[in-house]
Amino acid sequence: MDRFVIQGGQRLSGEVQVGGAKNSVLPIMAAALLTDEELVIRRVPRLRDVASQVKVLQSLGARVLHDEQQGILKIRCDDEAPITAPYELMKTMRASICVLGPLLAKRKRARVSMPGGCVIGVRPIDLHLRGMEQLGAAIDVRAGYVEASTTQLRGSTLFLGSSAGSTVLGTANVVMAATLADGETVLENSAQEPEVVDLCNVLVKMGAQIDGIGSHCLRITGVKKLHGVDHAVIPDRIEAGTFAIAGAITGGDVTVRGCEPRDLLALIERLRAAAVDVTYGNDWIRVCAPRRFRSIDVTTLPHPGFPTDLQAQLMALLCLADGISMLHERIYQDRFIHVAELHRMGARIRKEGSTAIIEGVARLSGAPVMASDLRGSAALVLAGMAAEGETAVDRVYHIDRGYERIDERLRLLGAKIDRCTADVPPLSMVANSGG
Ligand code: EPZ
Repeated sequence: MDRFVIQGGQRLSGEVQVGGAKNSVLPIMAAALLTDEELVIRRVPRLRDVASQVKVLQSLGARVLHDEQQGILKIRCDDEAPITAPYELMKTMRASICVLGPLLAKRKRARVSMPGGCVIGVRPIDLHLRGMEQLGAAIDVRAGYVEASTTQLRGSTLFLGSSAGSTVLGTANVVMAATLADGETVLENSAQEPEVVDLCNVLVKMGAQIDGIGSHCLRITGVKKLHGVDHAVIPDRIEAGTFAIAGAITGGDVTVRGCEPRDLLALIERLRAAAVDVTYGNDWIRVCAPRRFRSIDVTTLPHPGFPTDLQAQLMALLCLADGISMLHERIYQDRFIHVAELHRMGARIRKEGSTAIIEGVARLSGAPVMASDLRGSAALVLAGMAAEGETAVDRVYHIDRGYERIDERLRLLGAKIDRCTADVPPLSMVANSGG
C-alpha cells in the first residue's frame, strides 16, 4: 500500500494541465452498452476507477482496447448475452451502477450487484430504481443484487429528487434507459452537473433525442437504435479546483490550464471572498495567494453551487484563514471524515451536524495521517504541503482512484512529495514512533 511523504512549506508555482473528468468518463463508458457499434472515448484519465469500470464492462461482454498513454478507450459491446455485473467488481466503485439503465434498455434484463457502502455516508440507489420502475421495469432486490427486467421500456414523466436535491448518477442512469424507450420521457429535477451534460451530448451524437440539456428538465424521445461515436470527455473541474486550492494554500502562484472556468464559478467566487487573487480566461485559471486568507462561509449545493467534491480541499485552506469559517455540507450526511485527520495537524474544527465550524490557526504542523476517501485524501495532501515539517499520508490508493499521478504533477509545481511503499516508512517517522 503506497503512502505519500510530504515536506511542507514549499510554495507551488508554475502551470499544470488538467485531465479528462473522472465523473464524466465513467457513465460515458457505460453508454457503450447502448449500441453494438464502437464507442471511442478520448482524454481518458489514467485512474483506478477507469480500470475498474473497464472490468465491469468486460464482465458484461464488452471488448475493450485501452491505450493508456494516449488516453483512448475503444469499447464495443456486440455480445449481448451477459447481464450480470458481479459484486466483486461493483463493490469498488459507485459509478458502476450506471450499467443498469443501458442493460435494461438494450438487453431488457440486468442483474447488477448493489454498489458497496461508502465512508462518505449512506448512498442509496432508491432513485435509480424508482426511475427504472417508472419506465416500466420490474425490479427485485435479492441477495445483494438488483434484478431488473422489461419487455420494453416505456417513456414516462418522472421526478427524481432527494432531500439533497437532484441525483447525478441517477439522472445519468434514467436518461440512458430512456434513450431506447418507447415514446417520450420527461425527467423533472434532473441534475445539471457538467458531467451529466457531457453524457447527454455523447448520447445525442449517438443518435438519441434529448431536449433541455443542462437544465432541470430533460425531455427524451426514445429511438430504435443508437450508433457508435468518437468523443473527448470534458476537463475535470474537481481536479482543476484541487490544483487551484493547492496553489493558494501553499502561498503560491499556479495557473491551471485546459480547464473550463465556467464550471468552477462557485469556487472562484469563494476563493476571491477568502482574499485569493483569481483570474481566468477561456480555458485557464490563475491563482495567487494572499498573505493571509479571510474566513468565509461555504455551503455545498448541486451545480452550479459550490461542489461537495471540493469541500474537503477548501476546508484545508480555511484551517489557515483569519477568523472563523462555516462550512455547510448539504449533499451528504457525513462527509467530514477528514476532520479528525486535520485535527492531528493542528487544525481547530468543530462539527455540528452537517456543519463544520473552522477556527483558523496560524500554522498547521506535519503529522502521520490516514486517507479514507478520495477528496478527503486530497485535502490531507494540500494540508501537508502547507504544514510545517513532514506529513505522511497513508492509503493513497484512495487518491489514485480520482487523480492521475498527482504526486508527479505537484512535484513539477515545486512540492516535495514522494510516493513510498507503506512497509518502508521514512526514517523520521520511525524516530517519531518511538521505536
Ligand atoms: C456523483 O455521485 C459523483 N460521483 C460524486 O463524486 C459527487 O459527490 C456526487 O455526484 C454529487 O455531486 C460520480 O459521478 C461517479 P448523487 P452520485 O446521486 O451521483 C442522495 C467524487 O468524489 N441519493 O447526486 O452517486 C445521495 O445519498 C464522488 O468524485 C439518494 O438519496 O451522487 C446524496 O445525498 C464522490 N438516493 C444525494 O442524493 C439515490 O438513489 C446526491 O447524490 C441517489 C442519491
